Amino acid sequence: MFCLMNSPGGADRSGAMGMRHGTKTRQLSKPLRKIYFTFILLLLIFTPRVDSSWWYIGALGTRVICDNIPGLVNDQRQLCQRHPDLMQVIGNGAKEWITECQHQFRHHRWNCSTMDRDHTVFGKVMLRSSREAAFVYAMSSAGVVHAITTACSLGELKICTCYNHKRGQDSDDRGTYDWGGCSDNINYGIKFAKAFVDARESMVKDARALMNLHNNRCGRMAVKQFMKRECKCHGVSGSCSLRTCWMAMSDFRQTGDYLYKKYNSAIEVTMNQDGTGFRVAERNFQGSTKKKLVYIESSPDYCLMDRAAGSLGTAGRVCNKSSRGTDGCEVMCCGRGYDTMRVKRVTKCECKFKWCCAVECKDCEEVVDVYTCKPHKRPDWLDVT
Ligand SMILES: *[C@@H]1O[C@H](CO)[C@@H](O)[C@H](O)[C@H]1NC(C)=O
Ligand SMILES: *[C@@H]1O[C@H](CO)[C@@H](O)[C@H](O)[C@H]1NC(C)=O
Repeated sequence: MFCLMNSPGGADRSGAMGMRHGTKTRQLSKPLRKIYFTFILLLLIFTPRVDSSWWYIGALGTRVICDNIPGLVNDQRQLCQRHPDLMQVIGNGAKEWITECQHQFRHHRWNCSTMDRDHTVFGKVMLRSSREAAFVYAMSSAGVVHAITTACSLGELKICTCYNHKRGQDSDDRGTYDWGGCSDNINYGIKFAKAFVDARESMVKDARALMNLHNNRCGRMAVKQFMKRECKCHGVSGSCSLRTCWMAMSDFRQTGDYLYKKYNSAIEVTMNQDGTGFRVAERNFQGSTKKKLVYIESSPDYCLMDRAAGSLGTAGRVCNKSSRGTDGCEVMCCGRGYDTMRVKRVTKCECKFKWCCAVECKDCEEVVDVYTCKPHKRPDWLDVT
């Protein structure tokens, strides 16, 4: 049994390990062997987490076959089989929230890049419980809410339509209006996102599952928070004497901006003793964690390529020489220095407004400097071999 104790924990506990240690069992006595195999079996059944995730649906493209998607847990697979059209929507939605994540992190060392053919989608970084993981979980569940709610309103799904039970009159500073039309069915989106996205975390009760559930919820609520009222005028020649209003989601960028702020103010937590909630690591913290993103593990610095930590490094990344923020060359390149490249760029210039209604521009060439981070220099003593 001792060989199992020494085995690497966490994500590496896969079937392969049983194979690797299989030869050892031959030397064990029969009862011991029985215990050994029971243990392996239990380990396989209760493996806390497979590496892959439902996020992978987004990478699979048009045809979603529920049985072939790695990383779906049983409940998710069942939802997938019952609602193949929703999976399609979740898959397309994944492209959208991943793009939004990359937009928010374009100036960071970790830039939300995905790995081709990698079932974890974001590489090993998502096997950690870092601040970045907190952001990605919140974004992904917000993305599902947004995608499903949008599809409901567009009439693309069998199971939902827009919410049209909001009736009657209300008033604002411009007078009274009628509720009507097609409100976004955010509550359906939230309900389905919760059932689908949370399914995996509900299977285990550990600190990481608790963290993911919390951040998933933050993501779902972020979308709801930006619901806004939209109205349409009726009445004689646009007099707006009659108005019909409905509730609509805002652009997903708003959710992205909001969650990015939450990323910056995320707090470090540990699980409390009875395993039911969090304790904030920082002593002076006041208030509630309810609206905060939470993380458990501090992040790597993402300076160097380190696949095990999920870091691609910043060699070759473009940086901004005059910025003092995270995109500045000093920070982005981790002090390794940068290369300067003169490049010619064609831009539109001397634009003139032409009656009516066009803008005509000339093509101008300009020379700009582009700065890119130097790779990590190996210390000389490593080159001796
Ligand atoms: C993100 O960083 C990686 C590694 O430095 C780089 O290869 C990739 O092009 C970057 N992606 C974007 C969208 O900037
Ligand atoms: C670089 O950073 C400066 C200061 O933050 C900013 O004004 C400028 O627009 C940035 N340049 C580019 C190319 O992003």
